[in-house]
Amino acid sequence: MATILAIETSCDETSVAVVRDCQVLSNVVSSQIAIHQQYGGVVPEVASRQHVEIINWALAHSLEQAQLDWSGIDGIAATAAPGLVGALLVGLTAAKTLAMLHQKPFLGVHHLEGHIYASYLSEPALEPPFLCLLVSGGHTSLIYVKDCGHYETLGQTRDDAAGEAFDKVARLMNLGYPGGPVIDRLAAEGNPQAFSLPEGQVSLPEGGYHRYDSSFSGLKTAVLRLSQKLQQSEGALPVADLAASFQDTVARSLTKRAIACALDYGLDTIAVGGGVAANKGLRRRLQAAAAERNLRVLFPPMQFCTDNAAMIGCAAADHFNRGHRSPLTLGTQSRMAIANVMQLYAT
Ligand code: KG4
Ligand code: ZN
Repeated sequence: MATILAIETSCDETSVAVVRDCQVLSNVVSSQIAIHQQYGGVVPEVASRQHVEIINWALAHSLEQAQLDWSGIDGIAATAAPGLVGALLVGLTAAKTLAMLHQKPFLGVHHLEGHIYASYLSEPALEPPFLCLLVSGGHTSLIYVKDCGHYETLGQTRDDAAGEAFDKVARLMNLGYPGGPVIDRLAAEGNPQAFSLPEGQVSLPEGGYHRYDSSFSGLKTAVLRLSQKLQQSEGALPVADLAASFQDTVARSLTKRAIACALDYGLDTIAVGGGVAANKGLRRRLQAAAAERNLRVLFPPMQFCTDNAAMIGCAAADHFNRGHRSPLTLGTQSRMAIANVMQLYAT
């Protein structure tokens, strides 16, 4: 058993958690959404400054809630990649400094591996292999989870991430930021069949379409064109019907790919992670399609779908128990394939 203090600052949430393997002892999350809302999206420099302001408070609060002092902590972890470099640097530097000060092992964590481990927080008995559908503001991936630290990306988006598509469509409909929750809310009152929208497909050079890759930029453009046309002809936009039709198209696209991928690779469990895992349309469609095929779908509780340090700590604990440690010279990286997770650890 490992008790890990973990820090997550890869984007716009400052989070510090204490976990004992998959058990969450504390998970403090301070969201910057209200600050970035006025700009219509995350401003990297503002995010870094805000992390600096909040990090010490979050650290103190997290230890206090876990009712532990530093003597009860076995290792200190932080997200090292991928993410906004300046934002990552705040959490990573704090973790390395604390590791030196308190003479504890230090572990850098891959952000996407953290999202995969969110499923273990509510399902500690989960065992690889399984498929992870990771749908967030920055990523849309189908990941074959082989073992701790060993992953293969089987499918991904060729342009916008699913959450990014929700955010961009909400912006063009003047619904504010972040777009996912507001579109989800409006979609509940709309007709998903009101408008027929194109589900982006990725062509293969040999003909046909990629079974697992997705594309959302064409869908976003289609919503833009349709909104312009409707505005000219009707005056006001039928926002609920538009939101429902857009959301259903995204949910259908993700469901089709995840089910095909799980069946092709003989995986009986699909663990969903990332902010878009909260989406009610996606949950409904994926659960229904999986039940038809006798597949199991796991949706972590909402607080573990969006960015949080508990999932980072849970991933770090598994690495810690396997003897993996990161060098204090480890730096941040804005991009890093999940296949390269083990590069974060000295062998
Ligand atoms: O995982 P996350 O908190 O941060 C990243 O790592 O990106 O995901 C944030 C994304 C945003 O794009 C937001 O619009 C989307 O998740 N999101 C949703 C919902 N709640 C959050 N998208 C669709 N439906 C939702 N209910
Ligand atoms: Zn994330």
